[in-house]
Amino acid sequence: MAASTETPRQDTSTSITASLNKLPSKPPATTSNTLCHSSRQTRGEETVARAKWAVAIAPFFPAAMQHSTAPFSIKMDFVSSALFVLLACTTIHVALSFLGRCRKPHYKLPPGPYPLPIIGNLLELSNKPHQSLAKLAKMHGPLMSLKMGQITTIVVSSAEMAKEVLLTHDHLLSNRTIPQSVSVLNHENYSLAFIPVSPLWRDLRKICNAQLFARNTLEASQDVRRNKVQQLLSEIHQSCQNGEAVDIGTAIFKTTINLLSNTIFSVDLVQSAGTAGEFKELVSNITELVGTPNLADYFPVLKMVDPQGIKKRQAKNVAKVLDIFYRLVDQRLKQREGPHADVHNDMLDVLLNISQENKMMDTTMIQHLSHDLFVAGTDTTTSTLEWAMSELVRNPETMSKAIEELELMIGRGNPVKESDIARLPYLQAIIRETFRLHPPVPFLLPRKAETDVNICGFTIPKDAQVLVNVWTIGRDSSIWDNPSSFYPERFLEADIDVKGRNFELTPFGGGRRICPGMLLATRMLLLMLGSLINSFEWKLEDGMKLEDMDMDEKFGITLQKAQPLRVVPVKINN
Ligand code: HEM
Repeated sequence: MAASTETPRQDTSTSITASLNKLPSKPPATTSNTLCHSSRQTRGEETVARAKWAVAIAPFFPAAMQHSTAPFSIKMDFVSSALFVLLACTTIHVALSFLGRCRKPHYKLPPGPYPLPIIGNLLELSNKPHQSLAKLAKMHGPLMSLKMGQITTIVVSSAEMAKEVLLTHDHLLSNRTIPQSVSVLNHENYSLAFIPVSPLWRDLRKICNAQLFARNTLEASQDVRRNKVQQLLSEIHQSCQNGEAVDIGTAIFKTTINLLSNTIFSVDLVQSAGTAGEFKELVSNITELVGTPNLADYFPVLKMVDPQGIKKRQAKNVAKVLDIFYRLVDQRLKQREGPHADVHNDMLDVLLNISQENKMMDTTMIQHLSHDLFVAGTDTTTSTLEWAMSELVRNPETMSKAIEELELMIGRGNPVKESDIARLPYLQAIIRETFRLHPPVPFLLPRKAETDVNICGFTIPKDAQVLVNVWTIGRDSSIWDNPSSFYPERFLEADIDVKGRNFELTPFGGGRRICPGMLLATRMLLLMLGSLINSFEWKLEDGMKLEDMDMDEKFGITLQKAQPLRVVPVKINN
């Protein structure tokens, strides 16, 4: 087996955010909230509106960026690149508009706001696009079409429409749009998360379902995870003795990486210093770049230019991560050659066993697969746990009930095990309620239409990007009573799980692309949350009041808490 020598490529399917704010006013839009309403303005009106807005938008770009959460240099990159795009694309757009006039589409797109010339509806999005699109869906309906730059995008905002996409038409909507931040080092040709549905993808999914994330594999590795959580608790114990606050997100991020690295490679990839410390940085950098709005994703003509340098920077990060995995695989291969080869019973052993029969599973494949498992598994798990802890701290009654259940089933202060999870329905309900209000991947991973698809009389055109706004579905008052309250009790009676069968709650997606790491994620989440609250009491820092807690969101590849949760662990009396 040889290390991958290809040059990096990037994918950033989730970077559909434009860090641009709304203009003070916007072009007229249809107001119907149903699926079956009249089509858009006439082309003449549209052309006038487009012309007006083309003139209007340029001066707004810098102002719009002031509210972005991106670092200053990225903002400047974005602004200058945006101006460049406007100039560069005008000519192309005029030509395309002319051609478009000659070739009127024969299908009926779902309703949506009017696209401006060149940039389409990018200005309709704020730095919280899940919220902007939720508002737009109230005007245009649960199946809505927009132009994100040049990319036709369909946004799904109801459980019924989610079912159409994730179940009824799943077979035609299971490919992905591939962001530039993913198209590095040939990753787009290996990535389980981004390759199209194909024999390779089916093979990889089969390996995930039948081996890597199979119940017996996860059972076999549960002690390793318990040790890592014990380590987390010891570190928190130190803070407890010093009366210091713990940054929950940072602590969980590190533990999650080690939970995954021990499950996959039987090693800690994050320690306090040295090269291993670098791994945490690398994963953070990769996920941050995947979440950074990239003009090249909205204007394919810019792909070659890489105007913000995202692809170039991502290639460096991915190369380093792949190199770390190469060394781990190489080391294990050498160990397995010896006469007293250790059996680790981890995912790497499983993959290397597979490689003996299946040529596809070579070192390069293992490197890229491991990349996806870390990138897909770390931020998602971390943000869910930070939100869950925040909600529990903010809702003392719910916290008390959770502790009561743990006390009854496990004993206050005793270690929580993965095998205890089935006996903790209230803790499970807390995680579901967290997924409902704070879905870590608010649009799932973008799907792409393989062909024209008809849904409720509207056409999702071939190659359109499809986003399912699970954030707004989780807050839909026609489904949920008091949707903005954190109320886990609602899941104790309702027969709703997160396995992709109940389209009102699909944090892991659905259909054939449903998250393969769901079972591992659920185990890690319940193990960590149960351990944190069964081992300590938690109070806010510096006499801060519950009502002062900032629950604002920050959009990126995952939906994070804008202000990190800092809470002080207090020794429990048991
Ligand atoms: C709270 C934790 C997690 C959440 C909320 C989550 C959510 C998601 C979502 C929404 C998708 C896209 C599904 C779709 O398109 O319908 C996905 C895909 C994926 N997830 Fe997760 N995930 C989590 C944890 C994990 C973990 C721990 C792993 C592995 C260690 C993982 C690996 C993957 C992979 C490889 C894919 C791509 C699957 C494909 O495209 O075929 N995820 N996840």
